[in-house]
Amino acid sequence: MQLSVCNVAIAIVAIGLLNYIWTVVQARTTLPSGPLPWPIVGNTFALSKLPELTLTEMRKRYGDVFTVFIGTRPCLIVNGVNKVKEALLKNSVTFGGRPNLMLFKFFEIPNGPVGISATDYTPTLRLHRKVTHTAIRNYTQASGSDAAKFEQLVRGEINKLIKVIEKHESKPFDVLPDLLNSVTFLIFTVCFGPDSFEKYIDRKSLEKLSAALTVFDEYISMNNIFDTFPFLYHLLMKIPSKTNRELEALTNDLLSMLEKELETHKETYDPDTVRDILDAMIKAKREAEDEERDDKASMLDDYSLIGTIGDLFFAGMQTTSYTVQWYLLFMITHPQIQKKVHDELDQIVGRNNYPAIENRSSLKFLDATISETLRLSSIVPLSLPHAPLKDIEIFGQKIPKGTAVWVNLWSVHHDEALWPNAKQFQPQRFLDKNGDLIKSPNLIPFSVGTRTCIGESLARYELFMYISHLMNHFEFKMAESQESYDLQPRPGLVHGCKSYKLIATPRK
Ligand code: HEM
Repeated sequence: MQLSVCNVAIAIVAIGLLNYIWTVVQARTTLPSGPLPWPIVGNTFALSKLPELTLTEMRKRYGDVFTVFIGTRPCLIVNGVNKVKEALLKNSVTFGGRPNLMLFKFFEIPNGPVGISATDYTPTLRLHRKVTHTAIRNYTQASGSDAAKFEQLVRGEINKLIKVIEKHESKPFDVLPDLLNSVTFLIFTVCFGPDSFEKYIDRKSLEKLSAALTVFDEYISMNNIFDTFPFLYHLLMKIPSKTNRELEALTNDLLSMLEKELETHKETYDPDTVRDILDAMIKAKREAEDEERDDKASMLDDYSLIGTIGDLFFAGMQTTSYTVQWYLLFMITHPQIQKKVHDELDQIVGRNNYPAIENRSSLKFLDATISETLRLSSIVPLSLPHAPLKDIEIFGQKIPKGTAVWVNLWSVHHDEALWPNAKQFQPQRFLDKNGDLIKSPNLIPFSVGTRTCIGESLARYELFMYISHLMNHFEFKMAESQESYDLQPRPGLVHGCKSYKLIATPRK
């Protein structure tokens, strides 16, 4: 009996080893080489908690393009601006797919993959991207009274945030929870219209949601445990634990909120007044129905509208807040740069006025500090994974359809050849001799190509408005109680900075 158990164990190990050798040999014949993977776990653990940094280091040894294994799955890593653009710009349609990764399970709503970020490059995705992209630009590039209305809405929310920050009375505090609340409120309003927020979410639940998402970040990194051991996902998610019950309740609450809001929007819809992005999507559907374009209308069914709007909501929540949190960290650790931002604001806006979106082109130094923050923080350091929609010859190799491809934006933004003293916060690099802004083609925090970020124009609008208002109103300082300030990111697909405290003192 003992012998047979032993034999079975040996057989399992032997099969595992053969499978390992076969996978590695097969990958080596089709994909560029890279670090040798361990059996079963591949390179998962060697990539550390901040894979973008490890992969950037590995670039020195293996070149711009190499392969790493997450568990037993080979993934192509693309570093450096030229190779990233060769894939995502020159071959943009082919690289428009998303790989079949466990990671995307966290983006799904219960009935399966819908929406934008996790779905493949299909006609449905293109239509959803087009409708939402246009709707977002209608806000950020509106003219006349529509532009003024949107600016007023954003300013109103920022002013609430300023009051909340003032309540800390120049005592040390962590700015992130207040920022997340404010930005979430705004994205909610853009998606579902004014007054929708308080109807569904009280501030306490929102704080819970934000905290849950921040903890969650680590689990959805590139080398996450579920892509290493896919069976764990099914195992852990089925355990009736408290966390799972809470997660399920939260998902169900959000889903029923989205369903209710969709019904209310349909009932009150007026084609002449598009109130928000959900209205824009309903309008696209009604127009397709009027034109008897059933194919198009069916791509905008209720379920996929909910998926897309949920996607925008989640993508818009953390990204902007984390970028502002990074910005303030750079300001308190570089007081002489903060002073220059204040001087420029005093000169162009004035301490007793509100910055306006039309000031953006004049506040060049401030604009340069935002670009430098986007570069140095690279908050989506490995973008979202791509996958070729068909076999493709690129980088001197034939890359099979469906291969997971990670483009390392961190490597682009920390490349000494492109950015001398890349580790330092030097906004001047974005200004020429005359103080005019340099638009660098090497700054690509929103990625490039067919899957480039849909929210870029909104993110840039919000970043300018939040940062200019906060900087005009406050002077930010380090908290003496905080021993040191760590400029290393926190792990995650979207990486914030490590939690820190600052002091905000009104300048007026
Ligand atoms: C500083 C802020 C932001 C940064 C740095 C950022 C960056 C990115 C990046 C790198 C991607 C992946 C692109 C790719 O797959 O190659 C992405 C995708 C996406 N972003 Fe953003 N983003 C930001 C803000 C926003 C906001 C405010 C929204 C929503 C209103 C948004 C919505 C999306 C969506 C829906 C996708 C998926 C696009 C697709 O799969 O086709 N993002 N973003």
